[in-house]
Amino acid sequence: MPCEERIHLSPDESQDAEALIAAALTRVKNAADVEQLRVLEREYLGAGGMVGALLASIPTLPPDQRKATGQRANRIKAAVEAALAERKTALEDAALEKESGGGAFDATLPGARVERGSLHPITQVTRELEDLFTSMGYVVLDGPEVERDWYNFEALNIPKDHPARDAQDTFYCEGKGDLVLRTHTSPCQVRAMETMKPPFRAIVPGKVFRQETTDASHEHTFHQMEGLVVGRDISVGHLIGAMKTLLRGVFGRDIEVRLRPGYFPFVEPGFELDAKCPFCKSGCSVCKQSTWIELLPCGMVHPNVLKSGGIDPEHWSGFAFGLGLSRLVMLRHKIDDVRHLLAGDLRFLEQF
Ligand code: PHE
Repeated sequence: MPCEERIHLSPDESQDAEALIAAALTRVKNAADVEQLRVLEREYLGAGGMVGALLASIPTLPPDQRKATGQRANRIKAAVEAALAERKTALEDAALEKESGGGAFDATLPGARVERGSLHPITQVTRELEDLFTSMGYVVLDGPEVERDWYNFEALNIPKDHPARDAQDTFYCEGKGDLVLRTHTSPCQVRAMETMKPPFRAIVPGKVFRQETTDASHEHTFHQMEGLVVGRDISVGHLIGAMKTLLRGVFGRDIEVRLRPGYFPFVEPGFELDAKCPFCKSGCSVCKQSTWIELLPCGMVHPNVLKSGGIDPEHWSGFAFGLGLSRLVMLRHKIDDVRHLLAGDLRFLEQF
């Protein structure tokens, strides 16, 4: 703003207020940007500015001039304020216009819709089960997805040459020593034993990986939830009780279960736990007409595993189970292809 344009108003000068206002308004109108407006605002209205000086001079004036001077100052102030606000709006509108590509802004056009997301069905069931199990005194643990061979196999009573390794279709991390992508959540059994003193109860939900040829019922990445209880005189009865509570939580009513023998090196005895089909009485497509659904593998923790975790099997016993969360979600929502779960297709996900 060129200085020579400034008009100085001395309080005792009886300059015409109208001329002053006109000059101020011209300068405001010509301001090129918001920064110039700020300079003008300070000059006219700021502390020590023109209007301020005028007002401050009032007590020094002869009494008969005071009222008129006050009124003049207030008139200038109001006029300059209004002009500043008007110019500011005009400058902002111009900026907005420029931003929107110069086209007219149509305030009546509908805005972009805000999409609403929802929790993935696996997350939903995981959270429900976490609530259920924590209400029974379990703690929720987490473990690494890239795991040491020791935790994934050795510590679980699966030595290097054990045939059970073949069944696990392991992804080995090349050139990374003994690292593997964990093939199950069971390594967290031993990790839990290392970090907690018995007695304790824990669940470990998480992702696991297997080198599988994918089809409707096989996926290289899926979700499990490990359960582990260690205490004095823990028995198969405790295991069955916990599983019945689990089923009541998931299906909302009591469901009959049965145990069949199952083999896993880290449990002895080991079982496959079946649940009476919650969807039918005499056979349906979900239970493949058998009225029983294979729910989860489980068993009593093998003494060697307790030893791996630094727990004396002479004094403590425990049970463990490995719930397939992906499978449970499929059962619950009657999903026929496991690959939907991780495909990220909104047409699928929007249903939950
Ligand atoms: N970890 C086993 C699997 O994924 C399941 C399992 C867990 C079996 C706990 C028994 C006890 O195949």
